[in-house]
Amino acid sequence: MDDNVMKLIDTHAHIDVDRFDEDRDQVVARAREAGLVAIVNMGDTMESSLRSVKLTQQYDLLYAGVGIHPEEAKALVTQNEMDQLAKWTEMDKVIAIGEIGLDYYWCKDAELRELQRQVFIQQLDLAKQMHLPVCVHNRDAHGDTLEILKREAKGVRGVMHCFSGSLEMAKELLKLDWFIGVDGPLTFKNAAKLPEIVQAVPLESILVETDCPYMAPVPMRGKRNEPAFVLHVAEKLAQLRGESLEKIAEQTTKNAQELYKIK
Ligand code: NI
Repeated sequence: MDDNVMKLIDTHAHIDVDRFDEDRDQVVARAREAGLVAIVNMGDTMESSLRSVKLTQQYDLLYAGVGIHPEEAKALVTQNEMDQLAKWTEMDKVIAIGEIGLDYYWCKDAELRELQRQVFIQQLDLAKQMHLPVCVHNRDAHGDTLEILKREAKGVRGVMHCFSGSLEMAKELLKLDWFIGVDGPLTFKNAAKLPEIVQAVPLESILVETDCPYMAPVPMRGKRNEPAFVLHVAEKLAQLRGESLEKIAEQTTKNAQELYKIK
């Protein structure tokens, strides 16, 4: 490949879902045309983790994270499931435990929240054991997420995906040598504090992502999101930081390659 061509990585996608069944080949082809050199597809259940693993065998562009999302945490991860997750992570293109974390937005029940925390900790332990980075989902659970990471994830690196916290939280994550994942909401009119935060943190700590099929960035807002649209996130980042798109693409790609050991 020509080294002058801009390279991007979508560090968080869900193209295993059935909304891509009709045209997955074209979606991956469009990503390649947009300059993507990798797509990291995240699992959120055992089933979608398996689908993500299979996609890595089908498409050279695809890498996978495996894990159970907090909204899918209905019981503790069983020993069988732990063994299966561990087995998948031994494959070259399975590069992270994710997406895991806490989501208190829909979950008001104290017992279910406790279960989410335990499932999160189980999977952080697995990441530690397998020496893998983690991709963390956190919605309305900033305090507990940070507290658990500090207590239970010593030596584990990762990304706070779809970052929605404060600048203070971002700084706490930087102290842990973690990354901040930025996606569609950065381009929204109601982006709140996010534009200020991406201006204040070093570019070396930012990853770009889509979280497709959800949250398509402007000018695609409202459509089905797809990995190629990560370009719009990178463009917004370039505009806000007053840096060239090429520089944003180069550094965020380097960051993703460093965290996820993608060659
Ligand atoms: Ni996601």
